[in-house]
Amino acid sequence: MSDFTNGFWSWYVGVISLLSILACALLLWVAGKATVTAHPGQPDDNTTGHVWDGDLREYNNPLPRWWMWLFIITVVFSLAYLVIFPGLGSFKGVLNWTTEGEHKQDVTQLQSDVAPLYAAFSTQSVETLAQDPRALAVGERLFINNCAQCHASDGAGSKGFPNLTNANAAWLGERSAAHIVQTVTNGRTGMMPPLAAAVGGEAELSELAHYVLSLSASPHNEIKAFSGKKLFAACAACHGVDGKGNKALGAPNLTDQYWLHGWGEAAIVSMIKSGKTNVMPAQAPKLSAQQIQVVAAYVLNLSKNSFAAPAATGTATTKP
Ligand code: HEC
Ligand code: HEC
Repeated sequence: MSDFTNGFWSWYVGVISLLSILACALLLWVAGKATVTAHPGQPDDNTTGHVWDGDLREYNNPLPRWWMWLFIITVVFSLAYLVIFPGLGSFKGVLNWTTEGEHKQDVTQLQSDVAPLYAAFSTQSVETLAQDPRALAVGERLFINNCAQCHASDGAGSKGFPNLTNANAAWLGERSAAHIVQTVTNGRTGMMPPLAAAVGGEAELSELAHYVLSLSASPHNEIKAFSGKKLFAACAACHGVDGKGNKALGAPNLTDQYWLHGWGEAAIVSMIKSGKTNVMPAQAPKLSAQQIQVVAAYVLNLSKNSFAAPAATGTATTKP
């Protein structure tokens, strides 16, 4: 595909390219025939009369044959190349070759190369694969290549990127094969709108933040938390009246020790003021359905035995 805005530039580039090649060929032809014309005072020993470093003389010979041939081959090569491959304006070349096409071919080739490996897994459920050490080994590699840049190589995540080793209660959605496969395939967007207007001024925001801290038995100011309780009405629709969250909406549990977006009054106030749109991009274009099964099994296994209690420990985002 060419990016020219109109046909003129295609011709412009094409004609200049061809003219330069022809000019090179012409130069070659002229230079190949001619020797320097004798002039008065030129010695008759077939040198040009130039002398360097005392005794270094230059012969007056035509270009060497091997050099001529190299030059001719280059000219022929460039013409042949421009006929076969794209390069002359927007002419596609007789092979119709494109980098995009070659990439697609490589991807198809790669997928058919690994197909036998995944064929063995494709008939099994994600839950079964999560018990299979071979599937887990493949899943780990898929995870390192496709997920670790956001969720960390051990799956423990970081601020804004969920810790996948958590127990179910600390997950945004259900810790299940279906949720993981769905999330990896289609991605997901967590959305909390800015809500300061519904809560009040700085004083109310601070009170509400202390109430939220009290939900997880984090250190807090009792008096502020007491006044903040009624303000939580603005939050209950998503986070639940008891603050335990709502997995269907992706609203996190505020009563546990895991803080995806940071712990403390300042972090909570900033959540209320600015809201948050947190996006995980869909992986389906990159990973086949079988690869998603296998990586989902790996993720399911990551959190299998860890943290029976809701008080899941995380990374730096956990309460100190
Ligand atoms: C570009 C960063 C990025 C990449 C790459 C990425 N994720 Fe995510 N992932 C996120 C974010 C951000 C969220 C939280 C989305 C939200 O807030 O709803 C998330 C959420 C999830 C969840 C839901 C967690 C929960 O608590 O419900 C799972 C499961 C998950 N990712 C698995 C994966 C797997 C497996 C891969 C690799 C195939 C992957 N992710 C690749 C950023 C990423
Ligand atoms: C429309 C639904 C909705 C409402 C209303 C809402 N939230 Fe949220 N809240 C969310 C979602 C969804 C997330 C997770 C964002 C993400 O996926 O990263 C979130 C995340 C948070 C977090 C971060 C939790 C963590 O683990 O770091 C805090 C704190 C929070 N909300 C507090 C509040 C407070 C306080 C209110 C009331 C003023 C409120 N929310 C109202 C949907 C909502």
